[in-house]
Amino acid sequence: MEKGFILWMTGLSGAGKTTLSRELAKHLIESGVACEILDGDEVRENLSKGLGFSREARDINVRRIGYVANLLSRNGVGVIVAAISPYRETRNELKTQTHNFIEVYIKCPIEECISRDVKGLYQKAIDGVIPQFTGISDPYEEPLLPEVVVDTSKETLNVCVSRVLHYLEQEQLMPIFTKRTE
Ligand SMILES: Nc1ncnc2c1ncn2[C@@H]1O[C@H](COP(=O)(O)OP(=O)(O)OP(=O)(O)O)[C@@H](O)[C@H]1O
Ligand SMILES: [Mg+2]
Repeated sequence: MEKGFILWMTGLSGAGKTTLSRELAKHLIESGVACEILDGDEVRENLSKGLGFSREARDINVRRIGYVANLLSRNGVGVIVAAISPYRETRNELKTQTHNFIEVYIKCPIEECISRDVKGLYQKAIDGVIPQFTGISDPYEEPLLPEVVVDTSKETLNVCVSRVLHYLEQEQLMPIFTKRTE
């Protein structure tokens, strides 16, 4: 059976978690790795529908994602999680409780996320229309020892993708993909 893993992408809204996840999934599938994306937005529409944004609610959401990710990874699936997951302690808890947990910090300065404002939510958060918005009116705790860091304000999408794939190759969690161009 394949070795499963959990690539846990954490970072601010607009940092690039979803964008990177989709690109990574394409490469993994091309390399024959069974893979699933658990995206925060989709989880909040399904598994966590109706859940709020207090610390407690965010922790419940992250633990639910971790639970599902673990079921998949222990059966050989490469799981990509794209969820803000703002609390360090909760991420660390999953790192100890799950199978091949790889913390990937999708780093991007808040100023850059605000200027991207992909979903138009930052402006609403700044105007006070949306409360408890990560980075504006709610905390984000950076990982202290992530397995991989990518800085999407300085590196192209291709460079970010390659960095993560290299890590997986190094850890022998995916085959070396020689055809890849960088
Ligand atoms: N190197 C990069 N990697 C990923 N995204 C990038 C990069 N450079 C620029 N971008 C852009 O940044 C934006 C990231 O948006 P994306 O929806 O992926 O963020 P997110 O982290 O999933 O946010 P949210 O938590 O709100 O879902 C996209 O518009 C993407 O094109
Ligand atoms: Mg997203």
